[in-house]
Amino acid sequence: MADRHKEGRFEFDFRKNMTPQQIADMFDDFAEDYEQEYLNVGLRSHVVVGDFMAKTIPKEQRPKVKILDVAAGTGLLGTELKNHGFTQIDALDPAEKMLNVARRRNIYQRLICAFMNKNRNDTIETDYYDNIVASAAFNEGLLQCDAFQEMIRIVKPGGRINFAVPTKFINNSDNLRDRLLPLIYQLAQEGVWEVTPVALADGEISDINGPGTLFSLKVLVSEKTF
Ligand SMILES: C[S@@+](CC[C@H](N)C(=O)[O-])C[C@H]1O[C@@H](n2cnc3c(N)ncnc32)[C@H](O)[C@@H]1O
Repeated sequence: MADRHKEGRFEFDFRKNMTPQQIADMFDDFAEDYEQEYLNVGLRSHVVVGDFMAKTIPKEQRPKVKILDVAAGTGLLGTELKNHGFTQIDALDPAEKMLNVARRRNIYQRLICAFMNKNRNDTIETDYYDNIVASAAFNEGLLQCDAFQEMIRIVKPGGRINFAVPTKFINNSDNLRDRLLPLIYQLAQEGVWEVTPVALADGEISDINGPGTLFSLKVLVSEKTF
C-alpha cells in the first residue's frame, strides 16, 4: 500500500497515465511527508494566494467570508488564510489522508473528501461560497478545466475563484495547454466572469517552477454548463 505511484509525486509526465483515483492514492501515501518535501523545493503558491486574499478583502470583512479551499491537501493555504484572519474555511480534497493532516490543524470547519470535476457534488449548495481558492492545484493529473463548471455553481454571483498556476504547468499539461487560457477568456466574453490576471515573476510562486499567473475570476452567474 505504501508509496503507491511514487514516481508521480514530482515527475508530472508520469501522471499522464494515472487515473484520478490513482492520483488520490498517491497523495494519500505521501500525506505525512508532503509538506517537508514540497516546502523543501520552495513552493509558495499557498502564500501567494493567501496574501492576495488579504490584499483584496478588508480585515473587518474576513471573519464573514465563506471560503472553500479546493485541492486543500494538508492545509497549507488554510493556515495562511487563518493567519490573515479568515475563519469560515472549508476544505475539499479526494485524498483522505491529506485531509487527515489538515484536520489536525483545526482550521477548517468542514472537510469534504471528494474530487472537484464536472460532476455535481450535491452535498454543496448552489451559490454557497463567497470565495474559492486553490494553490498548487492546476497541474497534470490534478484540477482540470472541467472543475470550473462546479466551482461556478457553488460560488455566489459576485464571488471569486482565486488560484495561482506556474506557466510551465499549463504548458506541460496536455489537458491545460490548449484549454485553460482559451476557456477563461471565452467565459469572460460570455459574461460568466470578469478576469483579473496578476503576473507572478520567476521565484515568486516557487524556487523551481518559473513565472506564473494568479487568476482572480469574479463570477457573475449562478450556473454555467459547458
Ligand atoms: C500539490 S497538492 C496541493 C495541496 C495544497 N493546496 C497546497 O498548496 O499545498 C495537490 C492536491 O490536489 C488534490 N487533488 C487531485 N485531484 C484533485 C481534484 N480533481 N479535485 C480536488 N483536489 C484534487 C490532491 O489530492 C492533493 O492533495
